[in-house]
Amino acid sequence: MDEYERITQLKIERNAIILAHNYQRGEVQDAADFVGDSFGLSQKAVSSGADMIVFCGVDFMAESAAVLNPDKIVLMPELNAQCPMAAMITPEALRLEKQKYPDAAVVCYVNTPAAVKAESDICCTSANAIKVVNSLEEEEIIFVPDRNLALFVAAGTEKKIIPWNGYCPTHHLILPGDILLEKEEHPDAKVLVHPECRQEVIALADKVLSTSGMLKYASQSGSKEFIIGTEVGLLHRLRKENPDKIFIPATKYAVCPNMKMNTLGSIIRALEKKEHIMKIPADIRVKAKLALDRMLEAGRGD
Ligand code: 13P
Ligand code: SF4
Repeated sequence: MDEYERITQLKIERNAIILAHNYQRGEVQDAADFVGDSFGLSQKAVSSGADMIVFCGVDFMAESAAVLNPDKIVLMPELNAQCPMAAMITPEALRLEKQKYPDAAVVCYVNTPAAVKAESDICCTSANAIKVVNSLEEEEIIFVPDRNLALFVAAGTEKKIIPWNGYCPTHHLILPGDILLEKEEHPDAKVLVHPECRQEVIALADKVLSTSGMLKYASQSGSKEFIIGTEVGLLHRLRKENPDKIFIPATKYAVCPNMKMNTLGSIIRALEKKEHIMKIPADIRVKAKLALDRMLEAGRGD
């Protein structure tokens, strides 16, 4: 029996599903029941009838699945798969920021710990950040933790955005020179970048999209070549779903080491041993769920 067959067997035994983010290793994506962006994964976690969810992504994603599904067991195969950007804000720091701007609403990117979500009015993902901000009554918005996404939102809204100073170390590896170099070699290619990229990179893009937004755009576009400014794991699906098109990573160095921790072996171990169960304290879970539910009600933007 190979690893895929063993995973299928265990999934049936446990009534489990496997959710994987678009940045996971190709073989992990191929073993998953659903592969998507943060928004799609949150939606899928809620709509699934499974008893157990094996979440192949990073900590904040498994936490969100646990917050949204208090009756299901959510397993995180590798405990060290933690998003460094999510660790750039704490609930204590956010409480201080709220004191400075008492009239502001707080929008938190899903890349945050559950305890920060619990201090926020609403969550957003890269797929719906502008839509979420524009849906609020308040004119001032504290936006945490990603500064680049906050500035991207600020350019697409009339509201005053107060950005936090966090960033994604992986997306910061993509430099304007990388895009310009690839553009020189592929002048007809469309440049698609993630809003976590540096402002100078965003300025060179044809489209700024979430990972699933890029998948949708690439499949519907008449263009044949695309320069992709995001974590390289997305190339697996882009190429698999569009075999007649050419996808060029902006840089091969844009690898998120945390996203790459999950393997087929760790999925098997997670299902066999029922580890590691994601547990969120009840007071945090209830408040964080409100912010996530509001985000899901707002819907996708791209
Ligand atoms: P998406 O929601 O676009 O998939 O992005 C999640 C993420 O962690 C980006 O670094
Ligand atoms: Fe976090 Fe960046 Fe990795 Fe996404 S790519 S999980 S934001 S470190």
